[in-house]
Amino acid sequence: MKNIAVLVSGGGTNLQALIDAEHDGKIPNGKISLVIASKDGVYALERAKTNNIPSMVIPRKEYADVASYTRAVTDALIEAKADIVVYAGFMTILDSHITEAFPYKMVNVHPALIPSFCGKGYYGLHVHEEALKRGVKLSGATVHFVTEECDGGPIILQKAVEVKNGDTPETLQKRIMEQAEWKILPEAVRLLCEDKVTVKDGIAVVEE
Ligand code: GAR
Repeated sequence: MKNIAVLVSGGGTNLQALIDAEHDGKIPNGKISLVIASKDGVYALERAKTNNIPSMVIPRKEYADVASYTRAVTDALIEAKADIVVYAGFMTILDSHITEAFPYKMVNVHPALIPSFCGKGYYGLHVHEEALKRGVKLSGATVHFVTEECDGGPIILQKAVEVKNGDTPETLQKRIMEQAEWKILPEAVRLLCEDKVTVKDGIAVVEE
């Protein structure tokens, strides 16, 4: 059984999708054993509490720089014996100290089809604002390994979602969450827990 740690910064609907998948037996080889929030008071922490999942807050604002914050988060994950780390709406950039400690053991869900609308500055609703500005007819979500390059790690799963006339960033975000993120994130975590994802020459290969 793999210990899954989930990093959050907000509402935690992706955390909820993972909790529901675990409860429904869809992640048979994994258990969510820790939730770490980058700020206090976020609703994701309530979701952890309701489901009796240990949680902690490591407040970003209490650390002077990315390096010291990365060390604090990495230490907590090592202490908790995390096997797999999931960025589920985690809005803080960490440095290579953590990717070296958990090589190809960390995944992020991004609300667009990478390599579109990704990288520094593309997070949350901004991603959907930019997609609508560009007029794309398809967007979606991507689950990828976390590496030192922001949103640049090997892609594990993607799912496309239609953009509709009259969409706002909020309606597009909701459709992408419902139709893509909440499905592919638990599925990617299941695959990782079953050791079904390998990386060869920078490309993730999913065995089914
Ligand atoms: C999700 O749409 C997630 O893909 C996005 O933030 C939202 C968090 O929602 N993450 C990023 O933009 C990371 N670059 P949640 O807290 O309800 O899961």
